Amino acid sequence: MILVTGGAGYIGSHYVRYERDRGSEVLVLDDLRLGHRAAIDDSPLLIGDLNNAAVVDLAFRTYTIESVVHFAAYTSVPESVAHPDRYYGNNVVPLIHLLDSMVRHNVRNIVFSSSCATYGDPQYIPIDEQHPQAPVSPYGESKRVCEGMLQAYGRAYGVRYASLRYFNASGAHPFAAIGESHEPETHLIPIVLQAALGKRDKVVVYGADYPTPDGSCVRDYIHVCDLAEAHALALDRLRSGVDRGEYNLGSETGSSVLEVIAACRRITGRRITVEMGPRRPGDPPQLVAASKKARTELGWRPSHPDLDEIVATAWKWETNRRY
Ligand code: UFG
Repeated sequence: MILVTGGAGYIGSHYVRYERDRGSEVLVLDDLRLGHRAAIDDSPLLIGDLNNAAVVDLAFRTYTIESVVHFAAYTSVPESVAHPDRYYGNNVVPLIHLLDSMVRHNVRNIVFSSSCATYGDPQYIPIDEQHPQAPVSPYGESKRVCEGMLQAYGRAYGVRYASLRYFNASGAHPFAAIGESHEPETHLIPIVLQAALGKRDKVVVYGADYPTPDGSCVRDYIHVCDLAEAHALALDRLRSGVDRGEYNLGSETGSSVLEVIAACRRITGRRITVEMGPRRPGDPPQLVAASKKARTELGWRPSHPDLDEIVATAWKWETNRRY
């Protein structure tokens, strides 16, 4: 079976759904601090903290684990600046425990949730995998350290790994009742949709004076179901004996904050009050992926590349949230 850490979280739960739909057996390991029991329906769940090496090893001793897909992590850039201890603690230490258990139990394959935050401020756009990794936040640095650990365990112990560098995960499953639910929510699309629903008074645009076409930040929004599929493809590649790979996962299209708000107005047909505010510290002006490598080596083709479609699935979730 596949051990899915953080499987009750946003991206993890979409991956669990994808694997179950193709008939795989999964075991979710999640402490439910940030994840939601309802997000995985009746998938087998081990509630436990990955910071505890004994808990991690128990999963390997109790179940026949064939591969690991590791989502569990903290993901807020501003929080990582304020509390770096949480990010090194929660993002780096659990991977040590996982890799040690994998080596001990002779489990070879791991797919790892990495991030475009490992690149730092882009030197060129679109960003390919050759772009230097110079993270500018403890969050990005924690992910880069994890990538380094995977390389070292690969060389020393023959662990096979794929590091998937996501751009902006967004949207929700088009028909399963799962979606994004963070507390507090910091991501743009859910915030704009909550303003459309009247759950927030307004949306503050963090900076309209960037060197971009309309002055607001440009990001590459990629549908969470497309991310889920990429994990399955990456895992299949490791199973076929390929020993390593780093892949950018993005739509290769940049959308500005103002364009996202316009898409949300189009899809919801609601009034959304917008206020221009100051820049948010740590935000690069523009992040757009070159993800040709994932397309050629993994055979990955995003099925929901269109921003309106991403927003439409997020809107469906936001108006029917279960958690
Ligand atoms: N934004 C606003 N107003 C808001 C919220 C966001 O203007 O209320 C802007 C941000 O400043 C940014 C863009 O919308 O320019 C997207 O912001 P998100 O918070 O949705 O996403 P980020 O690009 O900051 O973060 C994402 C992932 C992180 C990852 C990061 C890499 O969520 O995990 O990309 O830069 F680390």
